[in-house]
Amino acid sequence: MEGVKVENLTIGYREPLISGLSFHMKEGEFWVIVGPNGSGKSTLVKTILGILKPLSGKILIHGKDCTGWCEERKYLSYVPQMESYSHSFPSTVFEVIMSGLFPRLKRFQKIGEAEIAEVNRWIEALELEGIKNRKFNQLSGGQQRKVLIARSLVSSPHYIFLDEPTTGVDLKSSRKILKLLDNLHKKRGFGICMVTHEISSVWQYIDKVILLGYNGKFFVGEKEEILNEELLSEIYEVEVKIAHTEAGPIFLIWDKH
Ligand SMILES: Nc1ncnc2c1ncn2[C@@H]1O[C@H](COP(=O)(O)OP(=O)(O)O)[C@@H](O)[C@H]1O
Ligand SMILES: [Mg+2]
Repeated sequence: MEGVKVENLTIGYREPLISGLSFHMKEGEFWVIVGPNGSGKSTLVKTILGILKPLSGKILIHGKDCTGWCEERKYLSYVPQMESYSHSFPSTVFEVIMSGLFPRLKRFQKIGEAEIAEVNRWIEALELEGIKNRKFNQLSGGQQRKVLIARSLVSSPHYIFLDEPTTGVDLKSSRKILKLLDNLHKKRGFGICMVTHEISSVWQYIDKVILLGYNGKFFVGEKEEILNEELLSEIYEVEVKIAHTEAGPIFLIWDKH
């Protein structure tokens, strides 16, 4: 069994937010999690990654039960929502990226040449050489996301989970981040699962969708099945219309007055 399998999962804090969620993210697929604010997108990602415990149900990674701790967790990496990443500490870009190695180091293992070479490999691949000695907290939002993506890559994951990597980033930088993710997916075979609000921008890149709504509603499936006018209107509680253009579908809120 490859990838990440979720079976009959209930997530939440004291009270369940979502119950009975099942899906299978196969190796090398590109998924998005969409839905209104507060619907549980970040909670779902954190539960899959083992940061939060599920209230019930199972999470399997490469066929191993990872509902508790398991070694296969190292195959998943995380780019947190920007607001939750602490950047008050004056680390350099190089240091921030290197900190991505920690999950894969054994206890008391020192960082050696091989690890540093891996960090430099991703700095080059993501074209970050020019800023690698700059302080992370002095970079633009777009540059910071790119650095956090590099940080998530140095642990050699199979699946990268990103929580709103383009929120608050200008249009050009946002497009660059999406192209980078598309490249990592198509050319290097990474599985990607990304929380986003920008469904028009990501449409061309994605395979599967998890749509979360209020009161524990959810839908999972192929993008064409899920991102349609009926389901989006129901979940967002506004009338959504799709304009079909050469650049792909554009999702609009239809305000009839
Ligand atoms: N640590 C927490 N303890 C209790 N409730 C929380 C916690 N974090 C988030 N929540 C609540 O869980 C719900 C889902 O939050 P979240 O997963 O962050 O939503 P989203 O990412 O979709 O905006 C919200 O109602 C939020 O207030
Ligand atoms: Mg969130």
